[in-house]
Amino acid sequence: MGVLSAVLRSLRRTATISGLAAGALALSGCAGSSLGQTGSGGPGDEVRLGLLVPLSGVYAPLGEDMRDGFQLYLDQHGGKLGGRTVRVTTVDEGETPQTGVPAAQKLVTQDRVTAVVGVVNSATALGLRDFFHESKVPLLVANAGADAITGDRRSPYVWRTSFANGKVGAALGPAVAEEVDGGVYLITADYAAGREMVGGFRRAFEAAGGKVAGEKYTPFGKTQDYQPYLSAIRSSGAEAVYSFYAGAEAVNFVKQYRQFGLADEIPLYGTGFLTEGGVLDAQGAAAVGVKTSLHYSTELDTPRNKEFVDAYRAEYKELPTVYSVQAYDAAAALDKAIARAGGTGGEDIAKALGGIGAIDSPRGPWSFDADHDARQKYYLREVRAGDGSFVNAVVRELG
Ligand code: PHB
Repeated sequence: MGVLSAVLRSLRRTATISGLAAGALALSGCAGSSLGQTGSGGPGDEVRLGLLVPLSGVYAPLGEDMRDGFQLYLDQHGGKLGGRTVRVTTVDEGETPQTGVPAAQKLVTQDRVTAVVGVVNSATALGLRDFFHESKVPLLVANAGADAITGDRRSPYVWRTSFANGKVGAALGPAVAEEVDGGVYLITADYAAGREMVGGFRRAFEAAGGKVAGEKYTPFGKTQDYQPYLSAIRSSGAEAVYSFYAGAEAVNFVKQYRQFGLADEIPLYGTGFLTEGGVLDAQGAAAVGVKTSLHYSTELDTPRNKEFVDAYRAEYKELPTVYSVQAYDAAAALDKAIARAGGTGGEDIAKALGGIGAIDSPRGPWSFDADHDARQKYYLREVRAGDGSFVNAVVRELG
């Protein structure tokens, strides 16, 4: 798919979700019941959930995939989680905490949802941690990888169905140290996620004997022209590059890396967000050969993944992404937790999340660890030409 059609698709779907969200808001305004943080819920009660995903800004396509993954799980389960009918209110996270934090607060204080699913941006997740902790409303982070929210700042109310930034980076470190002889240049978006994905990579890479040839942090959400940075990479003498970019930034970086002539000279590595889903469609042949670490690929050869990919494709006419899977799994986790909690109160659901055991996910089985992060496998992936499109082929499991 071209960039233009990707953008048009994005705009089209954004318009649809705004309509849906407005409808949901109108309905929740009429409902008059007091579920959410204060409700404990009787057997017949429905559950009101908030979905907080970017529908504008550089990460909008990621948010759409999350919304679609969450909705697919609901559709496959008759619109119910844990036996309760679910009403979803969707709001736009936007690009930064300035938009994401108030949007989440509105879900809890105005819409009185029982739990919130979503959050793409690490800085937004960090900005929301105390609010959810103090409100005692469960937040299921279905993307943002900020290390601290399942580390130093973990909370009984914050759970993550995605990854911690440092772990995705660290998974790739030893593989790059093994494959590359000379120094590696580190380049990333300058905000919490980029710094942690580089930090995790650097620790594991240097521990495995790797050498860093240089590093650069590019302004997040503002950089469109990477040429000056690509010149610096060329003159650094690096033998490989490691990077974190996602969404529109990943499209520009990888395309310009090829246009500048670096792709044939200096192998490009990164976390899997660099070549994921619509981003890879927009990059096309420019991305061939890029190697990444991630906990999912559409190419995972398991019956569970094939069944998921087929169902997703039948519903949305496109392939799923890691973002779709993380949100699909958040619905699966809530399904089990609501059933265990035996009610729709947020505090009971938060407690129940600790006892749900393994999730039978398209990425492979995973479970929450003691810090509420996803304990899972990571894969080395390489972009290859597939059947009329480009795919992230699974090369091997990372240790
Ligand atoms: C993050 O900010 O944590 C983040 C954003 C986009 C990604 C991955 C992580 O693709």
